[in-house]
Amino acid sequence: MEGMFTWWSALALGIVPLLVWLLWYWNELWFLAPIKARSNGAKLPPGHMGLPFMGEMLSFLWYFKIVCRPDDFINSKRQRYGDGGGVYRSHLFGYPTIIACSPAMNKFVLQSSDLFPIKWPTGELLGPNAIVTVNGESHTRLRSFVLNTINKPEALKRITLTVQPRIVSSLCSWAEKGTIIAADETKEVTFQNICNMFVSLEPGPLLDEVEKCFRGLLSGYRAQPFNIPGTAYHYALKCRRKLEAVFRTELEKRKQRGNVASGNANDLMDGLMQIRDEQGKQLLDEEVLDNIIALIVGGYQSTAVAIMWSLYYLAKSPDVLGRLREEHMEISEQKKGAFITMGDIKTMKYTPKVVEEIIRMANVSPVVFRRVAKDVDYRGYRLPKDWRVAVWLRHLHTDPNNFDDPFNFNPDRWNEPAKPGTYLVFGRGWRLCPGNMLVQIQLSIFLYHLTIGYRWELINPEAKIKYLPHPTPVDGAEIAFHRI
Ligand code: HEM
Repeated sequence: MEGMFTWWSALALGIVPLLVWLLWYWNELWFLAPIKARSNGAKLPPGHMGLPFMGEMLSFLWYFKIVCRPDDFINSKRQRYGDGGGVYRSHLFGYPTIIACSPAMNKFVLQSSDLFPIKWPTGELLGPNAIVTVNGESHTRLRSFVLNTINKPEALKRITLTVQPRIVSSLCSWAEKGTIIAADETKEVTFQNICNMFVSLEPGPLLDEVEKCFRGLLSGYRAQPFNIPGTAYHYALKCRRKLEAVFRTELEKRKQRGNVASGNANDLMDGLMQIRDEQGKQLLDEEVLDNIIALIVGGYQSTAVAIMWSLYYLAKSPDVLGRLREEHMEISEQKKGAFITMGDIKTMKYTPKVVEEIIRMANVSPVVFRRVAKDVDYRGYRLPKDWRVAVWLRHLHTDPNNFDDPFNFNPDRWNEPAKPGTYLVFGRGWRLCPGNMLVQIQLSIFLYHLTIGYRWELINPEAKIKYLPHPTPVDGAEIAFHRI
């Protein structure tokens, strides 16, 4: 009996550590061995590939979801592996991944579109002809169409006036309610405005249906891409087909009305239908539809989250609010109730600094992804073909080496420009966000109407912040909202 016990305990003592060792090193052996075999002596960036199947997702979720200290995901790597030139290896979201988190490495990845193209696992949800899914020449061509339609002074002038009625009426309705959940309300007003700017959709049952479909579509991006009935991805595909049908009907109506020939672009859809490239070629209907959907996806929640954070940070920074109000009151006295124009926005001096700081602190797009097209060597490290690169933008904005006291909301830091390569809220290079001006203008307009007419307080100023899918206070930023 005693002999058997000794035998079992010896087995357990041997097997358990072996299993633990295997669990811990399985991914390392599995992913690194083929790379070492095909290129003897290649050195991978420091890091660890995590557990089989899960990789480092548990650690990611621990920092982003459980302890709500997202920056410690990268900080813990820095502590364990050193600075590493801002490059680590990992396994995230189902792929072996290179984490890029220094200004130099992020620049290298984002500027080299041939070495690091984009590849979305959920590409069919975004649309095969959307600016966000295509690469190379097709991307350059589509990008010029989109930029010409939403980022040129004429379009921005028109948009400045288009968005104001809804912002004004929403603020008024918030004051009537007295208490609001800012995360919900800012989503509603932003969605109405974006659909109006892009497709001239007015509030009503159709817009409600479209909103429901976009919500379904967005939840599919975060799901595993299994097209099986009952899954979020399957539902998202259904939502996408519905959206295509709605927008195609609208597009056909416009063709019949002769919008394309008239040359008067009242919204993004008109603009995309009319614009021609240097050879006189227009976009195909499918390209117009895919890009309308992609631009609404790109612009809707991102802008809403930024506007929500503007309410949050200003509620916590009465001095900043005071200075902002002073600037806006001066303009308001001259406007005598009229809407502000692009010209008025350009006269603002303090507002752009507040806007930059809100967007820096909000970190709406914490990480963007690329694929490694072929084996790449970077500063002595091998970046293996077909791995993903996670460009950790958030880390740039929260690293005290880049921004003094980075968690302090301080618009005055923008008296000086940021250090080169450290402020990439809108990305960089070939895929720099085409909606960047649109957000900045909408935020300036929102802040103007907000500060001249209203006061507000956070109901739970110490509410915890959750970081997935977007950074948001857990109470959705509940606010008591009143007229001045
Ligand atoms: C605070 C608001 C916003 C933030 C922080 C933001 C951030 C970003 C970032 C970081 C990228 C680069 C993605 C990459 O490199 O893979 C990007 C791209 C993009 N954004 Fe935005 N964005 C915002 C608002 C908007 C708006 C309002 C629109 C719509 C008009 C928009 C549409 C897009 C599109 C279509 C792309 C892809 C561009 C391309 O692939 O060439 N974004 N955005």
